[in-house]
Amino acid sequence: MPEKILKVDNCRVYYFTSRGINKALDNINFEIYKGEILGIAGESGCGKSTLIKSLYGMILPPLKVVEGKILLFDNNDTIDLFSLSDESLRNLRWKYISYMPQGSMNVMNPVVRIEEQFFEVLDKRTEGTKKISKNQAREIISNYLRDMGLPSPSKLLKSYPHQLSGGMRQRVILAMVTFLNPKIILADEPTTALDVVVQKGILMMMKKIQRERKNTLIFVSHDMGVHYQMADRLLIMYAGKIVELGPKKAIFENPLHPYTKFLIDSLPRIGEKEKRKGISGEPPDLLSPPHGCRFHPRCPYKKKICEDREPKFIKVSDDHFVACHLFSKKGEMNYG
Ligand SMILES: Nc1ncnc2c1ncn2[C@@H]1O[C@H](COP(=O)(O)OP(=O)(O)OP(=O)(O)O)[C@@H](O)[C@H]1O
Ligand code: SF4
Ligand SMILES: [Mg+2]
Repeated sequence: MPEKILKVDNCRVYYFTSRGINKALDNINFEIYKGEILGIAGESGCGKSTLIKSLYGMILPPLKVVEGKILLFDNNDTIDLFSLSDESLRNLRWKYISYMPQGSMNVMNPVVRIEEQFFEVLDKRTEGTKKISKNQAREIISNYLRDMGLPSPSKLLKSYPHQLSGGMRQRVILAMVTFLNPKIILADEPTTALDVVVQKGILMMMKKIQRERKNTLIFVSHDMGVHYQMADRLLIMYAGKIVELGPKKAIFENPLHPYTKFLIDSLPRIGEKEKRKGISGEPPDLLSPPHGCRFHPRCPYKKKICEDREPKFIKVSDDHFVACHLFSKKGEMNYG
């Protein structure tokens, strides 16, 4: 059995807005294994970023934890993420768990040289111990950037973020969040909005870091092709729920949930010029999601029970879970 590093236990995390309650994460249960790459997929608005923020303990208004726990396992310690004080959370961040937010191009301070931003991260490591000189710090950071395959580290460190291309900025941010060798790295759409070549460079850098240091990497992408290249396991979200979770190979070769099938079928095939037809319709408004299975208004296999009863998230085989009335616990299916 793989060793667990994190457990999400019956989490409900909602946005309390003036328009109503947005059920962005509802009844979420799963585990993350030490050293794996877990890919999170789903259409826009399905709750991927809310899940990543929750895993980082970043619950800011109007977001609130309504129920459940997130547990982190560190050697013999169990940390209950939502019960930590602000200070304990701060101590955990960068060193134990780090986070690359969606749209992180804008995360770096544009008027502060990259070097200064790295010094701040390095400071977190040396907190409470004797401070090192700026020159020593510069050398440590440059060596790390060189190791990461980034060109001309000294020149890079003297630059301001706006002087770098989008791809280079993203690589610098990735270097920054992995600098203190955190056990868990969260990356929300790290390659979106970049061209294919740049995207490939960043994915390779992520894989290199993870292979060499054996961190646990959890990353979000709406691109199933990226997941195919990167992930060990895949978690598919739809309308604030996990609908399928399993090894990448099993999910691509034998997707169980009709929504997962749609996602995989919409991937372009080699040699095809035209973009494949996506899924018809849109995910529901999470202020008032559909009753029963939240996918039922779009599902071609819908049965009466789907409108009335929410399917349970069940284990159908070793490490493969699905939430759909078509499946029984033994993995038998009935598309009739
Ligand atoms: N700050 C916020 N206040 C209120 N509602 C929010 C907020 N952020 C997200 N939501 C809502 O929560 C739901 C889940 O959003 P989330 O950002 O987690 O989706 P996502 O899967 O990351 O989408 P995308 O692929 O577009 O990034 C959506 O209905 C969204 O409108
Ligand atoms: S539970 Fe029913 S509506 Fe939902 S995905 Fe399965 S078959 Fe489709
Ligand atoms: Mg998002």
